[in-house]
Amino acid sequence: MVTVIVTVSAVVVAGLMLWWRHLDGVTGPGREVDPYAGIPVDLRTAAMIVTDARQLALMWPVLGLGSEGNWPNVLSAELVEAGAVIDVQMVGGQKLTDWTNDETTDALAQYFGVPKVLVAQSSPGFLRIELRTFDTLAAAVSPAGVASTGVDLEAVETGIREDGRLWLLRVLYAHILLAGATGSGKGSVLWSIIRGIGPAIRAGYVDVWMADPKGGMEFGRGERLWVRFEWTADGILSMLTEAVEVMGNRAAMLRSAGIRKHVPTVDEPLILVVIDEAAALSAYATREQRQEFERLLGLLLSQGRAVGVSVIAALQDPSKETMPFRQLFPVRIGLRLDEPTQTTMVHGQGSKDRGALCHEIPDTTPGVGYVGEDGTSEFVRVRAYWITDEQADEIVDAYSPIPMSLPAPVDDFDPATFDPDFIPGEDDAQGWAA
Ligand SMILES: Nc1ncnc2c1ncn2[C@@H]1O[C@H](COP(=O)(O)OP(=O)(O)OP(=O)(O)O)[C@@H](O)[C@H]1O
Ligand SMILES: [Mg+2]
Repeated sequence: MVTVIVTVSAVVVAGLMLWWRHLDGVTGPGREVDPYAGIPVDLRTAAMIVTDARQLALMWPVLGLGSEGNWPNVLSAELVEAGAVIDVQMVGGQKLTDWTNDETTDALAQYFGVPKVLVAQSSPGFLRIELRTFDTLAAAVSPAGVASTGVDLEAVETGIREDGRLWLLRVLYAHILLAGATGSGKGSVLWSIIRGIGPAIRAGYVDVWMADPKGGMEFGRGERLWVRFEWTADGILSMLTEAVEVMGNRAAMLRSAGIRKHVPTVDEPLILVVIDEAAALSAYATREQRQEFERLLGLLLSQGRAVGVSVIAALQDPSKETMPFRQLFPVRIGLRLDEPTQTTMVHGQGSKDRGALCHEIPDTTPGVGYVGEDGTSEFVRVRAYWITDEQADEIVDAYSPIPMSLPAPVDDFDPATFDPDFIPGEDDAQGWAA
């Protein structure tokens, strides 16, 4: 729940001060009113500062963020689950990095008396200052059990966002780049996506083509779920070649029918090509095989979306050598990364100033990451569901497509009592006329 502390502008701040003075005058012993009563203790200092223009006028120059007659404008402040968020208009002449550099965010945290302050641009000239007293993503989140609910392939439930809402991920008409150091939780993101699309796999609307160049160890347990499962260089290349062929055929069909987007059907399902740790291929592929891999991947990424061929590529190292096509992935997920430069490789130039801090994610919270999507400049901090091996097995059991050759099971069928002449509804007591 979001509680607005106060919506303030310079004028309202002045009004609030008057209100304060007024309160000072009327409260006497035994009738004390605490205007900050509803505010958590660890945010009271901050609340007292942002609602008091005199305090702000002391703070801005000390932090080098404003001077007499040239104060940043506090627009609003509200309590959120993780702490508080303050919207501020910058002073003319300031740069974004004047606010987002590590020294300034640290100085703000010390001044407000909170463990962490994050600053990101909300729109040109405006900032969102987040006072974080509590990490809503600190604890692992288990998904609800497997279910046969409907699936929106453009909003697949993958985990939770830091504001407590569900993390929904676009899979159809998208490609997803998933980068994270070893142990950062890439496997859990992939399994969470599989879980999310599970009912559509079972119903035949999604075919997962899995490439596990690490030797098939991580995804071997899901073999029944994958329509194609390859782990050798040759196997992966022939799978990608086939995906390119399907893509070409569908594109030709759509063109001749004058249709711009393929809608998955059971006959022509979404083909989801998942590649876990593409760089592992380099360890044993020849130079020619690597070049062919890049060529095929480039084709799928540039032409696959509209025809229902999506790629998810997971990587430990997001450098250009391992993944030259960052800009062809409309959805990018950065889990814990070792270096700020790697965050930039995943999320682009300036992403740190817009709030993507993959390199600051501690190794105690695997599955936590920042998601960026084409069309939005902001990043969303998320945590994928934690999927244990047992839960992965449950997912495989629940969503494996039913083999066509098996007869449908008949409940309580006992061959000894089978009477071929018996007609239900006529020969029993519940005949139609009864
Ligand atoms: N979402 C999560 N919540 C809680 N714990 C998690 C989560 N994801 C992963 N873990 C823990 O972290 C460990 C490593 O996760 P995972 O195997 O998914 O990482 P990875 O990025 O795939 O690593 P590698 O690059 O070595 O394959 C898991 O065994 C699990 O214990
Ligand atoms: Mg892994």
